[in-house]
Amino acid sequence: MTTTMPMVEMDNICKYFGNVIALSGVSMRVHAGEVMCLLGDNGAGKSTLIKTLSGVHQPSEGRMLVDGKQVLFSSPADALDHGIATVYQDLAMIPLMSVTRNFFMGREPRKGEGKGIFGALSNVDWDRANQVAKEEMAKIGIDVRDPGQAVGTLSGGERQCVAIARAVYFGAKVLILDEPTSALGVKQAAVVLRYVAQAKARGLAVIFITHNVHHAYPVGDAFTILKRGTSFGTFQKDEVTREEVLSMMAGGQEMDQLSAELEEFARTDADRAEGKTSGLEAAAAAEEALAKSVSDESHKLH
Ligand SMILES: Nc1ncnc2c1ncn2[C@@H]1O[C@H](COP(=O)(O)OP(=O)(O)O)[C@@H](O)[C@H]1O
Ligand SMILES: [Mg+2]
Repeated sequence: MTTTMPMVEMDNICKYFGNVIALSGVSMRVHAGEVMCLLGDNGAGKSTLIKTLSGVHQPSEGRMLVDGKQVLFSSPADALDHGIATVYQDLAMIPLMSVTRNFFMGREPRKGEGKGIFGALSNVDWDRANQVAKEEMAKIGIDVRDPGQAVGTLSGGERQCVAIARAVYFGAKVLILDEPTSALGVKQAAVVLRYVAQAKARGLAVIFITHNVHHAYPVGDAFTILKRGTSFGTFQKDEVTREEVLSMMAGGQEMDQLSAELEEFARTDADRAEGKTSGLEAAAAAEEALAKSVSDESHKLH
């Protein structure tokens, strides 16, 4: 546990959408050079929490501090001005535009001092822009042979990395990644996770949102676990095991029930293998167990 001032502090945040309580008294602190993993099942409130931090929503209650100063953002651009950069899973890139243009997004280096009379892109120094984009991507181990190529030609993991590299290059202090690895295969996810670790090494405060504990645990320093709009709290890595994080995310009781069911399946399988029951009987038993668990679930939903 570090005692320095947090880069980001969210204090008792509540967010209501009409009658829906999306967040109810959630607090979280993230320090520079730290990866905070925000974990929780679908609908837990993860995106709502970070949209509140990144200026998309305003909190219904609670307060937020960045670098020790209380803030209330009027828009995502306002949050970005305060050094808070957010990378969303799908909206990060414009696929048909080049790597370089996606990297700079209107902030390309210019030739000379003049603004130019032929529109915003007329005096862009494209050689320099391409060189910077290529270099920044190379720093994270991605070799973009031609930065003029469309971003859509890169792999999913590499595309995420362009968005992250852009945030780092333009001086973000806080990097928020909303489910950057969810749509990726193992190898591509590893590319993104490696870069999360690099952003941390550069001293950024990173908030990494995922519902995959196996992606979170290797890179996370601390874990905040949400469930249905409330927080289980924040745990430092040396305080919890991967299994404990998983169990909190799922809700301990439901996990216990699931393992009991899996044991039951394993037992009927074993019985069948030993010939104690016929294949048909075992199948019927398994089906019954499944039907029971589904009906238990639907009771819970009603
Ligand atoms: N704009 C909105 N209007 C109404 N309800 C919303 C809105 N955004 C999110 N919610 C609700 O808030 C809850 C949390 O959603 P979300 O933050 O997207 O969860 P997560 O990102 O953890 O999957 C859900 O019940 C969702 O339906
Ligand atoms: Mg979400």
